[in-house]
Amino acid sequence: MENDFIVRDINLASKGLQSIEWVSKWMPVLDNFYFQFKSENVFENKKIALCIHLEAKTAYLALTIKKLGAEVWVTSSNTLSTKDEVAAALAVNGIHVYAKHAAPREEYWSYLEKILKNNMDVVVDDGGDICEYLHEHPEYGKNLKGICEETTTGVNRLKMLDKTGKLKYPSIAINDAKSKHLFDNRFGTGQSTWTAITQLTNMNIAGKIVVVAGYGFVGKGVAERADGMGAEVIITEIDPWKALEARMDGHLVMTMADAASLGDFFVTTTGCSSIIRMEHILNMKNGAFLSNAGHFDFEIDICALKKSALSHVVVRDEVEEYTLENGKKVYVLASGGIINIAGGLGHPVDIMDMSFSVQLGCIHYFLSSNKLESKLYKVPDEIDRMVTEKKLKAEGITIDI
Ligand code: NAI
Repeated sequence: MENDFIVRDINLASKGLQSIEWVSKWMPVLDNFYFQFKSENVFENKKIALCIHLEAKTAYLALTIKKLGAEVWVTSSNTLSTKDEVAAALAVNGIHVYAKHAAPREEYWSYLEKILKNNMDVVVDDGGDICEYLHEHPEYGKNLKGICEETTTGVNRLKMLDKTGKLKYPSIAINDAKSKHLFDNRFGTGQSTWTAITQLTNMNIAGKIVVVAGYGFVGKGVAERADGMGAEVIITEIDPWKALEARMDGHLVMTMADAASLGDFFVTTTGCSSIIRMEHILNMKNGAFLSNAGHFDFEIDICALKKSALSHVVVRDEVEEYTLENGKKVYVLASGGIINIAGGLGHPVDIMDMSFSVQLGCIHYFLSSNKLESKLYKVPDEIDRMVTEKKLKAEGITIDI
């Protein structure tokens, strides 16, 4: 049967294949899980959907699941991060992929429907959209053994459903595994956010003032790396413990209202909306750079900025210049979308090797268990430990027991 797909340009496939080929060299933990599961037939003829940022590492996960015998559907959890060449590469490799970079919101939801009407056995979500759709359309969830949620924002949405007794499907909080958030959220986002910002702007970070909103795992990583590059770091927080931790880590802590006029670079990492608002932007220095590393593109109030600015123009790839009514100019990177993926290559490959190994381990767990209750589960300790032990082994590190 012909593969069914919607991609921007199928002719981009060879470029996408090259990037998948590259990442495949650096994901030994995922490969190790593949060899462990290969002889078991657990994945045979199962239907698995991935709704995660669609770039080369995600593609390698999709192809690994297919190699284990499952039929795989893929879309992106955020169309701004979709790499069209990777989507094309998946399409020519027999994956049902529905994804186009910057597709409008309605089109994105239509992809979710197209996938879910095939009645998945397991879905991998990133941010909670596919889970929301399944709650609105339970007719598509009748075969579903479980949802694996990749990120903090999606896990927070699941926690809310679980707490209010509304969760309809067994779900696993992949993000909360130690082998995920201690490395991916912190080191992965820390490095890749600055790779993207420096790449997009061609600016020096040393000697600059960097304002990071939020000092969770992502914020800590972003702040630590900025500090390492010689910036002075200001943290804004609403949590008193995190604020104090940031201070004791050596950063300045203040409100966004106070930080707004000081920063050269702003990075939001809270997962919450309207963190940088018009009243802050009007007080910023001429030439300030605004970016977001949280899951959704609502942390910087781009709508208000668009309405209030005298003009805005694209001045470089993924860099928009806004001229404010007070005559100052500010620069928004990657349209306020998730900067490290929408404006860069995403997390380092060897970090995603761990996160996606947790995913593969948990998909296997759902498929090989009897149907679980509709609750939010933590990643089983043995999977969490196995991922980190395999990673240590891959790094050639032995520890005391
Ligand atoms: P977290 O829950 O550990 O940290 C978020 C922090 O933001 C908390 O300390 C909270 O107190 C703070 N916060 C909330 N509202 C605030 C406000 N108004 N002002 C200042 N601080 C505020 O979450 P984590 O793991 O750090 O994730 C943050 C976001 O990044 C989420 O949306 C998550 O999904 C996303 N994420 C992005 C990644 C990427 O590749 N860019 C990777 C992993 C997570």
